[in-house]
Amino acid sequence: MDETVKKYIEELKQLGIDFKVLEHPQLISVEKVQEYLGFGMSDAGATLLMKADDNFVAIIKRGDTKLDSEKVKKNLGVKNLRMANETEFAEITGVPSGAATVYLKNIPTYLDEKVLEKEYINAGSGSLLVTLRFKSEDFKKIPGIKIVDLTKIETGKISGKKTIIGKKRILSGITPSGDGTLHIGNYLGAVKQFIDFAKTHDCFLMVADLHALTTVQDKATLQKNTENLILNELALLGDLSNITFFRQSDVPMHAELTWIFNNVTPLGLLKRAHAYKDKLQKDVMEEEINLGLFNYPILMASDILLYKPDFVPVGRDQKQHIEIARDIAERFNKTFKSKIFPLPEAHIPEEVAVVMGTDGNRKMSKSLGNIIGIFDDSAVIKKQVMSTYTDPTRIHADDPGHIEGNMVFTYLDFFGDKGKVAEYKEKYKQGKVPDVEVKNYLFETLLKYFAPARQLYRELKSNPVKVKKILKEGAEKAREVAGSTMTEVRNATGLTNSYSFFEY
Ligand code: TYM
Repeated sequence: MDETVKKYIEELKQLGIDFKVLEHPQLISVEKVQEYLGFGMSDAGATLLMKADDNFVAIIKRGDTKLDSEKVKKNLGVKNLRMANETEFAEITGVPSGAATVYLKNIPTYLDEKVLEKEYINAGSGSLLVTLRFKSEDFKKIPGIKIVDLTKIETGKISGKKTIIGKKRILSGITPSGDGTLHIGNYLGAVKQFIDFAKTHDCFLMVADLHALTTVQDKATLQKNTENLILNELALLGDLSNITFFRQSDVPMHAELTWIFNNVTPLGLLKRAHAYKDKLQKDVMEEEINLGLFNYPILMASDILLYKPDFVPVGRDQKQHIEIARDIAERFNKTFKSKIFPLPEAHIPEEVAVVMGTDGNRKMSKSLGNIIGIFDDSAVIKKQVMSTYTDPTRIHADDPGHIEGNMVFTYLDFFGDKGKVAEYKEKYKQGKVPDVEVKNYLFETLLKYFAPARQLYRELKSNPVKVKKILKEGAEKAREVAGSTMTEVRNATGLTNSYSFFEY
């Protein structure tokens, strides 16, 4: 059981709250978890984190009831009410959505009275692998809890489909600009977040080959890089049940919307883009910068906005691009007096915003040669691990060492066993373990961590039919969503299909 759950259980015990621990596999929705455990949605408790005027409050309701916002405003005595966004939720609860706990220390909590109509309620534990079964009367022991009427019973049946429709959507992309090989920086900064979200969200992930064309302008290389990236990503993702995985160029709407966005984007906005400014600073003449590269943020805005995601998980280097996408969405909406595009939000967890390279002073990046690969031969990975920056002040193995800024420990914090890493850190500080032993542990840990992905990579590589099928299905679904947005865009701009001429 993970530390978050253990800590939470301790807190509940101190409050005298009793419960049963129910373990289960990670499933795509609360509904599926309930089904697995043999219960229905009326036996499930959901904790909603909301912003009520200026304060965050928690509302505990039954899974089969719907929040009645008028009742909530009236009973809480507030005027404004909204759900906390993903970032606020993550910051306050520290747990994945779908695993919210009923007790949130220091957050005023309201219990919908319909919860008490059930003798037992199953609720989140902070982990997607554990559900706690409470006697609902025990919720009254949560400090300061108020019991109020906040909901109505859902009249429509809560079917599997309905929850999928109601699910929040995320979208992200990776460019096959290098050779398509992913490193642990891409994994932690982007892919891992994506895998975590895919448990509970409707996810779109694209291989951004149109973006790659800005720098890779050779047919065979682009194809090879793209194929390699596809295999890398699919191998890491594993379960695709909640993911629409597609190749950007299979969905022509990206290029089409880019043209339309070109017309609402001021030149100055793009001139301020870091990628373009960096190029100029590297003494590259304007003449040598192609317009695709300059327009890159507009294409990325199209990638995002076509799918109207709630948020976009990326590393920090992409933050400005998401801001530009927000800006473009606002300008489009304003120019064409439409509400087509909700403003997307970046999701950038602080601890993986920038994963530093093995040199310890620059972002991990293939072009800088400071990466640790995932699918390379184990001998290559070993070499990368062994050359990782540790503590330059430590000359002999028995010198006391520093763990801050020591990349081996930085990576171990993500991948290693918590207890073992803590032990190694202690020993390292006391000069009781040589660098090479810790590095060997990191190497073994990485191979073990990525063993299932490496296996899947081999399987997919020898099964192109399967990969093509995934791409075909992904493209169809993506085209459906993107096509529907384009219909709205055409209608809003006057670019309606010609067969509708004379009908307006
Ligand atoms: P790209 O291909 O450069 O990188 C893919 C993702 O990996 C993240 N990343 C890192 N995160 C933390 N530390 C690192 N060392 C590190 N290296 C890479 C990146 O931030 C990114 O999230 N333009 C995008 C691809 C793209 C896209 C999109 C992303 C195209 N369309 C729409 C989101 C939404 C790019 O080139 O990322």
